[in-house]
Amino acid sequence: MFRRLLFYFCIPLISAVLKPNEGNCPEFCKCGYGRQNRFISTCNGKWPPTTTLNFIPKFPSQTVEVIFIYNQLPNVSRNTFSNLTDLKLINLDLQGNSIRVIRKDAFSKFTYLQNLDLSRNNITEKDAMNCFKSLPKGIQRLRLNHLLWHPFEGLFNGLANSSVKRIELSHSYLTPFEGRWFSGLPQLKSLDISWNKINDSDFNLTGLPNIHDINLDGNRFNVIPDFCQFGLNSIANLHLSDTKLYNINHLRNYSSCLQNLKKLYLSGLPIRILPTNIFSNLKSLTYLTMKQMSTQFKKIHKYAFNSSTLQSLTFWRADGFLFTSQSAQQGMFHPDSLFDYSKNIKELDLSNNKIDLISNKIRLMFKPLKKLKEIMDGINISIIHAEILFTTISFTDFYFIREQ
Ligand SMILES: *[C@@H]1O[C@H](CO)[C@@H](O)[C@H](O)[C@H]1NC(C)=O
Ligand SMILES: *[C@@H]1O[C@H](CO)[C@@H](O)[C@H](O)[C@H]1NC(C)=O
Ligand SMILES: *[C@@H]1O[C@H](CO)[C@@H](O)[C@H](O)[C@H]1NC(C)=O
Ligand SMILES: *[C@@H]1O[C@H](CO)[C@@H](O)[C@H](O)[C@H]1NC(C)=O
Ligand SMILES: *[C@@H]1O[C@H](CO)[C@@H](O)[C@H](O)[C@H]1NC(C)=O
Ligand SMILES: *[C@@H]1O[C@H](CO)[C@@H](O)[C@H](O)[C@H]1NC(C)=O
Ligand SMILES: *[C@@H]1O[C@H](CO)[C@@H](O)[C@H](O)[C@H]1NC(C)=O
Ligand SMILES: *[C@@H]1O[C@H](CO)[C@@H](O)[C@H](O)[C@H]1NC(C)=O
Ligand SMILES: *[C@@H]1O[C@H](CO)[C@@H](O)[C@H](O)[C@H]1NC(C)=O
Repeated sequence: MFRRLLFYFCIPLISAVLKPNEGNCPEFCKCGYGRQNRFISTCNGKWPPTTTLNFIPKFPSQTVEVIFIYNQLPNVSRNTFSNLTDLKLINLDLQGNSIRVIRKDAFSKFTYLQNLDLSRNNITEKDAMNCFKSLPKGIQRLRLNHLLWHPFEGLFNGLANSSVKRIELSHSYLTPFEGRWFSGLPQLKSLDISWNKINDSDFNLTGLPNIHDINLDGNRFNVIPDFCQFGLNSIANLHLSDTKLYNINHLRNYSSCLQNLKKLYLSGLPIRILPTNIFSNLKSLTYLTMKQMSTQFKKIHKYAFNSSTLQSLTFWRADGFLFTSQSAQQGMFHPDSLFDYSKNIKELDLSNNKIDLISNKIRLMFKPLKKLKEIMDGINISIIHAEILFTTISFTDFYFIREQ
């Protein structure tokens, strides 16, 4: 019965996804309405039958988004886009087209363009610098990932007075890094320079005073950058996951100016301890995530989670942190005060750890969390004594403890 229902239900779904091509969609491409009811035309050279195109064909006139990826466009000029000039294009994705040369007037006909993706090409910095001048002032977002670039001052000068809000320059082995490359772009709010090779001594973040989101994941920092020294006072979202940070002791001092910081990402770090009151001066912090902490992680010091604003906390060690009475006795954490000073937590994700819920002491550890709305699933109760657990305590009891 259920299966039959599912069967009938799926047919309209599938036909909605694989809508027949609308208008005059070119061969090897797909055209149709997508998110936000935008008409999207896509030619993906990796789609079977893998046919790579070496020119941009003519698309249906209602197209506002062109995804022309993994094809071959070694030389790009205004003429390359001549089949696009009658469209009111908002998005143009040109990833992976083996672009080597871009003429400086290439984008001059795109009056409405907001998002441009030039990732995974062989574009030189110099060509890019020149063609940025031909982008419309309404450009909002530039994706320049996997380009293996060495940027320089002036690279983005052509975007001065434009409304560019986000620039991505990830996965490029980039080092050194200078904030002043972007200093002519006061509208820039979001910068993704993740998965580069930036280290402790080869960066200067001066010149990014309006940056709201900065993604530094996967770089080679050993110590926390001194954000305050560089005047990054507007940061709201800070990503420092998968870096080489082996201690975060400086976080308190180097982030004391980050009074707008709301979300902090510290996953996959090789730190050994969480120091006392390490987050307590971040007056806007609501979201903290520390997933997959390395197996070197040893101790959560007293009041480490002291934060009057924190609402969502994720913490787990790759091999499971032991929230047991025994590890508490060894000083690995302090169950009697662990959450005493983080009473605004609404979401707590301790999955993948080992939590001894049989122990009264450990259960009472959660008692201060009166606002807890959800404990993410996967609190690993298959701890030591699993059999006893199921006979002596049920989840209802556990919720009851929290609701007292
Ligand atoms: C424009 O599209 C047509 C057919 O769709 C194609 O034959 C022509 O080569 C294209 N022009 C350019 C400049 O790529
Ligand atoms: C691309 O442009 C270069 C000159 O900049 C030229 O030598 C080359 O033949 C062009 N390649 C193609 C495929 O048009
Ligand atoms: C860039 O060019 C080199 C050869 O010069 C080639 O091996 C490489 O695959 C190209 N990369 C991209 C992203 O096209
Ligand atoms: C930006 O605007 C200023 C002042 O209006 C002007 O002097 C400058 O040339 C403009 N820069 C660009 C790249 O358009
Ligand atoms: C940091 O990167 C620079 C290159 O920009 C390099 O000269 C230096 O040796 C690196 N320092 C460390 C500690 O890796
Ligand atoms: C960082 O760059 C700014 C301006 O580009 C400069 O004034 C400052 O001295 C630099 N700071 C360091 C620590 O190099
Ligand atoms: C933080 O700053 C205070 C005062 O400026 C200083 O005493 C303390 O040693 C600093 N702590 C760290 C970890 O740098
Ligand atoms: C928690 O942090 C606040 C703000 O930094 C501080 O005033 C308070 O003393 C801390 N509480 C404890 C128990 O350390
Ligand atoms: C819970 O812990 C057990 C024993 O360590 C492990 O085998 C299991 O995969 C864990 N489950 C989850 C969801 O992490």
